[in-house]
Amino acid sequence: MQREQWNSRVGFILAAVGSAIGLGNIWRFPYMAYENGGGAFFVPYLFAMISAGIPIMIMEFGLGHKFRSAAPKMFSKLNVKMEWLGWLQVFCSAAIGVYYVAIIGWAISYLAMSFDQSWGTDTNSYFFKEFLKLDDHSPLSLGNFQWHIAIPMTIAWAITFTAIFSGVKAGIERAGKIMMPLLFIMVILLIVRVLMLPGAISGLNYLFEPNFSKILDPQVWSAAYGQIFFSLSVGFAVMISYSSYLPDKSDVNNNAFMTVLINCGFSILGGMLIFGILGYMATEQAKPITEVVNSGVGLAFVTLPAAINLLPLPYILGPLFFLALVVAGLSSHISIIEAVVSGIIDKLNVNRKKATIWVCAIGYILSMAFATNGGLLLLDLVDYFVNNVVLLASCLIELLIIVFLVKAATIREYTNSISDFKIGIWFDICIKFISPLLLIAIFSTNLINTINEGYGGYPTLDLFVIGWGTVALMLIVSITINVRSLKTAS
Ligand code: ALA
Repeated sequence: MQREQWNSRVGFILAAVGSAIGLGNIWRFPYMAYENGGGAFFVPYLFAMISAGIPIMIMEFGLGHKFRSAAPKMFSKLNVKMEWLGWLQVFCSAAIGVYYVAIIGWAISYLAMSFDQSWGTDTNSYFFKEFLKLDDHSPLSLGNFQWHIAIPMTIAWAITFTAIFSGVKAGIERAGKIMMPLLFIMVILLIVRVLMLPGAISGLNYLFEPNFSKILDPQVWSAAYGQIFFSLSVGFAVMISYSSYLPDKSDVNNNAFMTVLINCGFSILGGMLIFGILGYMATEQAKPITEVVNSGVGLAFVTLPAAINLLPLPYILGPLFFLALVVAGLSSHISIIEAVVSGIIDKLNVNRKKATIWVCAIGYILSMAFATNGGLLLLDLVDYFVNNVVLLASCLIELLIIVFLVKAATIREYTNSISDFKIGIWFDICIKFISPLLLIAIFSTNLINTINEGYGGYPTLDLFVIGWGTVALMLIVSITINVRSLKTAS
């Protein structure tokens, strides 16, 4: 079967940028930056971008281009005993894909509500009590199925399904070409308007004010690296899958630089937008900004709706904000599910349509666990374990494989031979020393902390069954597939 290809370089870059820019840039980055030292967070963040983000992006683009395979087949081409890492990455994507779509579903509901701000004035109680109906549920007692959450999730799945089912050129590339310009226009319009509001600049001062005492805190470095990996969609099979569709004559180095820089630039725009709104809200309510700022889902679905209530023309700025969130989320969700679909296509030699139907059907059913009363808590646990345990470990093992099996210099020479400009020895230093050493430190600290202290105050049983259980299941299934491949081959 002839491998599908991108139609144009711009199409590939927009798809890769679409994957990178997602919910992570709009609700995760601003709070991360604020909580981890404000302006000072940019030091570890930029360090993580240069030492890990750019080199790993070049490496994954190079590997995808050279081996023309999705992650599992790509790793098995490097060494047949390494196929499991590709599957681990694919399962990482699958796990992210099933909860990520729930957040897109909430954003679609909030988009509909934003026209008349029907979330009311007490947005906290509305989100948790009326919308999610969280009550006293837990990740292991999910409660009832919530149709009003399931329906928008179904809409999100339908869009993802259509893009992937239609193929690389007609579906994924077209989606990127429509979604990315739309997203940029919306975010720029929002920023221009928000920055003219009273108090907005004081919000930005808060975001950018450096707290240098945080720079030596290992937690801050962990946050910066975790944010870079999640935000750039590296280490979970996505960028390897996308670059496997590059035509023979394709640049890698320049495309990787552009993808990373556009993504990180967009994160800063996201931070300015959110903190501009928070600054305005604090001024309107005569409160210090520390009292209005909130993290993660709380930021997007509690604080921002409250801020939208106060904005001039809320029925325009509100829908614009939630539409931007939906578009950013969908373009990433398409790439996350495509990583799974391409892995299946390569492994089972089935056609795209069949693989898409199966992956989306199973993903859809699993994702419905998040459309329940306790869905948010389940999401929180799965998100933590997948990102802090599996994703960091997967990036680390990927680097070790490259260092010991392939050699960083071989990848550098390969990407230099096909790219617009050449990269130097700094690439080898980052891939061989800086990134693996920092990742070992971060991963082991996270692991020890999680083992000793758990996470988020959840009961031990929940942590075991949902958290460690998910990690163990992903690992066992990945290794089993690899063992079976080895047996079949011998
Ligand atoms: N890269 C995607 C995001 O930032 C997953 O949301």
